[in-house]
Amino acid sequence: MQAAEKPENNPQTLDMKDITALCKRRGFVFPASDIYGGINGFWDYGPLGIELKNNLRDLWWKHMVVTPPIGPDGHPVQIVGVDSSIIQNPRAWVASGHVGGFSDPMVDCRETKKRYRADHLIVLKPEDGEGAWIAVLEDDEEFLAKRLKKAGKGKSSSDFEHINLTEIETSDYDKVLAPEAKEIGTLTEPQEFNLMFETYVGAVRDEDAKAYLRPETAQGIFLNYKNVLDSSRVKMPFGIAQIGKAFRNEVNPRNFIFRSREFEQMELEWFCHPDDAKTWRDFWFAERQKFWKLAGLSDDNMIMRDHDSDELSHYAKEGLGTADIEYRFPFTAPGYGELEGIAHRCDFDLKQHQEHSGQKLEYIDPERENERYLPHVIEPAAGLTRGILALICEAYTPDPDRPSGVYMNFKPRMAPKKAAILPLTAKDGHPDKAEKLYMELREDFPVDLDIKQNIGKRYARQDEIGTPFCFTIDNDTMQDDTVTVRERNTMAQERIAMDQVHAYLSEKMKA
Ligand code: GAP
Repeated sequence: MQAAEKPENNPQTLDMKDITALCKRRGFVFPASDIYGGINGFWDYGPLGIELKNNLRDLWWKHMVVTPPIGPDGHPVQIVGVDSSIIQNPRAWVASGHVGGFSDPMVDCRETKKRYRADHLIVLKPEDGEGAWIAVLEDDEEFLAKRLKKAGKGKSSSDFEHINLTEIETSDYDKVLAPEAKEIGTLTEPQEFNLMFETYVGAVRDEDAKAYLRPETAQGIFLNYKNVLDSSRVKMPFGIAQIGKAFRNEVNPRNFIFRSREFEQMELEWFCHPDDAKTWRDFWFAERQKFWKLAGLSDDNMIMRDHDSDELSHYAKEGLGTADIEYRFPFTAPGYGELEGIAHRCDFDLKQHQEHSGQKLEYIDPERENERYLPHVIEPAAGLTRGILALICEAYTPDPDRPSGVYMNFKPRMAPKKAAILPLTAKDGHPDKAEKLYMELREDFPVDLDIKQNIGKRYARQDEIGTPFCFTIDNDTMQDDTVTVRERNTMAQERIAMDQVHAYLSEKMKA
């Protein structure tokens, strides 16, 4: 039987509720502190979620550090890794601009006591000038429909001009009905809200002991730039890579793990001569798109978008700009949402750290007659946890023709489990044979040995967790040492010799 495909493989035909339900049901992602009712913006990765996350993390590390890409000169580029501390000297965050400038504009609702990011609120201004200006959170079609029903006076969405709250005069706020409010005019003027989580180091809780949880992994790389140069044999151009946790006290964490307060990043800082920045920017634009395809995202669901000048971060203003790789997430319909940013950070960070620390960070370039310069930086900065969400949305495939009603179409190399070994019955020697096969495979592949329950239910579970191959042990196996392989997407079955299973899986993992 041919399995049904998602219409045009478009994740925007999916409902996030179904995706989050599967993630919880099958152990990919749970709300953090679930038994206490959760904590907004924090998520835990379950037994399968951690495997999927590790697979994406390992693919990135391999692609960057273990076997880095081939550069424009036909030779592999040089990249080394670091794992820096989450808490650094707080002066580093002053130098990087995060203490002064890493903030979002937020507004409070005096009635509901809710706080919103001003740039995430869309105001529906009635074209006919009659009635309230209705504020809703962007990307929340369901809420918009409910709100219009309640406060829209019979009008539909097209009867309103849609404007971002930051684009309307604050003197017009008295006409705005905040999300969930009953009264109009309850929003405060926007105020800047710093996103860094603060903590205290040591026993005394005063200003001198204040420190920050890192809001990006990038600064840990800049802080180690000199140590890496002094301790390893890298020469310009070269990269330093880091994967790790970052923390942002987001005003409105939402859309499942897309915007959370604790998340993971995979960042590369690529150091080069300022004259070569454009070549390397173009190089990384192309490489990063190749990477996401390798991980399993299809071309149809990704776009590259240049930032407008008013979107540029403080460090990218002077340079060649920033482009994002965006993914067609269900909740960004009909648009796309950022998955990775590729920025030209110029020499902003090294210059700032040089000035604030008093340490010389210039490079003396033996290839350019000992020219001294602060290198420019091209930064491909990807979200690991956001990447997991994209892989999950891409893989989720409804299929009414199978008992589970859905299967996860992960690429074999990304799937949390590569295969399941299923004895047809729990007797007649089937479990022992199954365990023998399991022992042969487990050193090289994460495989599930699942003995109990009827076979249909076991297939359904494997479909939902995205296991690409199931090997079934039955009475024929006891006679001739062959097993049935069931392929997840097509559900097609074939028989192969048991001693060929390892080679079969090795071949399939290349996909
Ligand atoms: N060092 C540059 C930097 O941090 P960014 O665009 O703020 O740039 C890079 O973050 C990536 O980190 C984003 O493209 C996104 O994938 C991920 N990211 C940022 N904020 C996030 C959040 N609150 N939750 C989950 N992922 C986030």
